[in-house]
Amino acid sequence: MSAVVTDFAMEIAGITIWRVTLVSGAGCARLLSCQLAGLWLNRLVRLGESLQSAIAQLQNSSVSSPRLNAELLLMFTIGRDRAFLYGHPEQDLSPEESERFQSALAQRSSGLPAQYITGHQEFWGLDLIVSPAVLIPRPETEHVIERLLEIVRGGRSSLNPSLRIADIGTGSGCIALALAKELPHAEMHATDISPPALEIARANAARLQLTDRIVFHEADLLTGFQPNSFDFVVSNPPYVGESEVDTVQLEVRKFEPRNAVFAGHTGTEVIERLGPQARNGLKPGGWLLMEISGTIADRVRDLLSGWRAVQITNDLQGIPRVVSAQNI
Ligand SMILES: C[S@@+](CC[C@H](N)C(=O)[O-])C[C@H]1O[C@@H](n2cnc3c(N)ncnc32)[C@H](O)[C@@H]1O
Repeated sequence: MSAVVTDFAMEIAGITIWRVTLVSGAGCARLLSCQLAGLWLNRLVRLGESLQSAIAQLQNSSVSSPRLNAELLLMFTIGRDRAFLYGHPEQDLSPEESERFQSALAQRSSGLPAQYITGHQEFWGLDLIVSPAVLIPRPETEHVIERLLEIVRGGRSSLNPSLRIADIGTGSGCIALALAKELPHAEMHATDISPPALEIARANAARLQLTDRIVFHEADLLTGFQPNSFDFVVSNPPYVGESEVDTVQLEVRKFEPRNAVFAGHTGTEVIERLGPQARNGLKPGGWLLMEISGTIADRVRDLLSGWRAVQITNDLQGIPRVVSAQNI
């Protein structure tokens, strides 16, 4: 059964004189909060009721997966897990919790991704800090890690056990951190052109006690590294073309860093520069792995025509997602 949230307000010259918010459903209406001359008078609201009205509010704002988002923001607000939400629907939210929850809901209703509100996103089982300075790590990027581990563990390379790996465009640090965790003997380097992104990546390394395992560099792609020095160059580069801007979700366009998403007019501009740099930076027999999209897969295959064993792996939706290629 869905609840409906209704707002009644009177404003004079842009100032709210009074505002009343009601939640209605099952034939009755209950007062959620009221505001008088700028002062919020929240009555205590129960957890279950808050969740229902939040789902309705997000639904009305056309937020996708409204239940999931409402649960996430409520769990974040009260510092409890999903089992608690559903196990204690009668529990009251304090006025402070109500206010913080309303503020988080208002931000989410305006389109701000939930991860930028909570400041967290999970990747490869790691709890990462995120901010609007970095792309929110996506589950499909985990295929880059899987493919690299498949190459290393499948022995499909003549690689030294103490691998030297570069993660280009590290953002939150998600790829470098996951690889540092999985490959305890690897020497990891991570670059990004964005100083605020590197700050987040370094903070994540510190939280996960992996600071000693990764060297972070402010650099344009692989600039400044010795030739023939890496076993792997991995990257989730910006790969969306400005020409496809209308196909990109509004939330991504509006809130995620532009230089993390868009590469140039066609989408392959960064990859066109990264390919030759990786070729120079990799040892003979070393591997380049990149996240890509279905839109650019054929063009990327052409760009890598001089490489050995070029392979494109699909994600769980069957979309071409990871390209791997071996240096000759
Ligand atoms: C698609 S995001 C990937 C972030 C992270 N690796 C991930 O998978 O979530 C691309 C990243 O590349 C960085 N970037 C863009 N152009 C770059 C360049 N020329 N050199 C280094 N980093 C760059 C952006 O700042 C952004 O953090």
